[in-house]
Amino acid sequence: MWLAIIHAMTWPTFMYGTAWKKDATSQLVQLAVRSGFTAIDTANQLIHYQESLVGEALLALAKNGVKRESLFLQTKFTSTGGQDHRTPYDASADVTTQVRQSFESSLVHLHTDYLDSYVLHGPTTRRGLADEDWETWAAIEEHHRAGKTRFIGVSNVSAEQLALLCSKAKIKPMVVQNRCYAVRAWDRDVREICRREKMVYQGFSLLTANGEIFADPKFRAIAERAGVGLAPVVFRFAQQIGMLPLTGTTDEQHMKEDLACGQFTLSADELKTIETIAL
Ligand SMILES: NC(=O)c1ccc[n+]([C@@H]2O[C@H](COP(=O)([O-])OP(=O)(O)OC[C@H]3O[C@@H](n4cnc5c(N)ncnc54)[C@H](OP(=O)(O)O)[C@@H]3O)[C@@H](O)[C@H]2O)c1
Repeated sequence: MWLAIIHAMTWPTFMYGTAWKKDATSQLVQLAVRSGFTAIDTANQLIHYQESLVGEALLALAKNGVKRESLFLQTKFTSTGGQDHRTPYDASADVTTQVRQSFESSLVHLHTDYLDSYVLHGPTTRRGLADEDWETWAAIEEHHRAGKTRFIGVSNVSAEQLALLCSKAKIKPMVVQNRCYAVRAWDRDVREICRREKMVYQGFSLLTANGEIFADPKFRAIAERAGVGLAPVVFRFAQQIGMLPLTGTTDEQHMKEDLACGQFTLSADELKTIETIAL
């Protein structure tokens, strides 16, 4: 039955993020898909995301002929420490049960019977991995093994945590989603592990975490040379160095501008300049 989920679509090149959209989530997801996004990121965590409103958008899009298989859906398991009282699972249950319940409720919210990618929102500890994290990862692995999600991954990890997970996990993460700071060479240490282990690196807050670079004359000169705005340069840079960028824009023109970043190319020198711009 789950064989049906093995379809041709692999990783997208850009992802639309749905955090902090609140009641506008459904309208914005529909707008994003109409604008050309095919990949949506959410989480089963009501503090920051409205996963069920993403699902509402998917129903509306389906009525207009957008098939589930044409979209890449990614959501996350958030442990109790990242939830408020609206935990989407029994918080007193064991972690394996929590993951199962959260996963099942994500499927209900998103009106689907499989996910493209399922991500552990973050380890419960800043250093190393706690027993709870290992149990959570094992439960996530199980969902991949059962064919219910094509890819599995982890978010908000340090290089040390990622290396540890890769060294001991039965199934290594296939994707990492991290906040990406220019002052850390755009998360170079974590990206390097991803490159070595053939994992997809997803960068978020590429604009909001790096405001300082927009005033840099070297950066502005690159945008001018390319004849585009500042945001597309960041996203194109991300794609060309092997990242899958996320954007959280709420503006139709920005959606189109962000997506159009695939239409120009930065030179090797320009990539090097941007990679080291805040070091
Ligand atoms: N795993 C995690 O813990 C985690 C944490 C945070 C975020 N995320 C994911 O990452 C996604 C993106 O995060 P983010 O919202 O911080 O990303 P972001 O794209 O860096 O920031 C969005 C901001 O950039 C602006 N923007 C986007 N395109 C623009 C353009 N072309 N020109 C000018 N401004 C532009 C937006 O303004 P306008 O709305 O006016 O366009 C908005 O203020 C989230 O929605 C979520 O899915 C994950």
